[in-house]
Amino acid sequence: MQGYYVRKNMLGADGDFITSPEISQVFGELLGVWIVSEWMGAGRPEQLQLVELGPGRGSLAADILRVFSQLQSVVGGASVSVHLVEVSPALSRLQAETLTGKRNMEASSEDDPVYRHGETAARVSVSWYRLLEDVPAAFSIFVAHEFFDALPIHKFQRTEKGWREVLVDIEPADPDRLRFVVAPTPTLASSTLVQADERRDHVEVCAEGGVIVQQLARRIEEEGGAALIADYGHDGTGTDTLRGFKGHQLHDVLSTPGSADLTADVDFSFLRRMAGGGVACLGPVTQSMFLKNMGIDVRMQVLLRNCSDPSTRKQLISSYDMLTNPSKMGERFHFFSLLHPSRLGVPKKPQGLKLEKKSPAPLPVAGFTELGF
Ligand SMILES: C[S@@+](CC[C@H](N)C(=O)[O-])C[C@H]1O[C@@H](n2cnc3c(N)ncnc32)[C@H](O)[C@@H]1O
Repeated sequence: MQGYYVRKNMLGADGDFITSPEISQVFGELLGVWIVSEWMGAGRPEQLQLVELGPGRGSLAADILRVFSQLQSVVGGASVSVHLVEVSPALSRLQAETLTGKRNMEASSEDDPVYRHGETAARVSVSWYRLLEDVPAAFSIFVAHEFFDALPIHKFQRTEKGWREVLVDIEPADPDRLRFVVAPTPTLASSTLVQADERRDHVEVCAEGGVIVQQLARRIEEEGGAALIADYGHDGTGTDTLRGFKGHQLHDVLSTPGSADLTADVDFSFLRRMAGGGVACLGPVTQSMFLKNMGIDVRMQVLLRNCSDPSTRKQLISSYDMLTNPSKMGERFHFFSLLHPSRLGVPKKPQGLKLEKKSPAPLPVAGFTELGF
């Protein structure tokens, strides 16, 4: 396999970028509380699959699982399993180490859709897949943090002759260099992926992300559950956002392909459209709002009260600032959710049956609603 994510470990201070779960464990803990709250809101199903797309170093899943074990009296009745969709063999090894120590094994056959399996110290089963479609169908809470921005995009430009795809070509004067070119005629992508009423002059469409959201929506509609998608992005207003990062610095996207992180802002309006009418969508709300609604201020106060070491206190305060400050990650990152419609009080009526009793009012969806912590 080829490609940036397949080849290297790019996360963290020594890599190309750092993500929220790596900045503070509080981030993952609050997402863990969100998951428990959604599982409760769904009527505490017996089975709870935690499915993470693009788990990086495994820190987020580890922080979520710690919340599950701290809330054992609440989640204890559920059979919990973890399912990680990861394309990078190197990162899957790192995730396995974080989550299971040495209690994991690679599959003996390359054709096995579960290419690695293990279990945590608390005996929670953890399975690795290359594709979401291989994850078993069951009630699941899906988490995707900085996953959708890493998927490839198509770039389109409005021209006098209509929409044209922007393609990558070899620079004729220097075959070692690449350049962007505007396709002279419509391509299949430019004819099918740009909305007829599109008003922007430049749009980016992540077709792969659209297919994944359709899969998530279908699973949630059929099996129950929810998806929490956190990423930087816009709600249908962004234009030319493709950029590269290498060693925490901006990097020309066309130079040294495969060596830098290429990323584009996530278009949440596109994800909402792709999700279709079978699920409810909430958000995007800013990361600052989501974390504050989830009680980050109270959590930080507790941590600071119990911490006397000045350097740890300083680190706690700076990570809080990084996650919530509007000029840092607080407003650049957004949270978006797909939910089973019954979570918002739209019960699915089985065909031909009369609903005898009115369903109880659903619990508010944490993070997206101010709950008054
Ligand atoms: C930017 S990193 C985010 C990691 C982690 N979620 C975090 O926030 O720290 C993107 C992750 O998605 C994985 N990834 C990228 N493309 C993928 C794909 N097509 N299928 C599955 N995983 C993918 C990468 O290997 C990596 O684990």
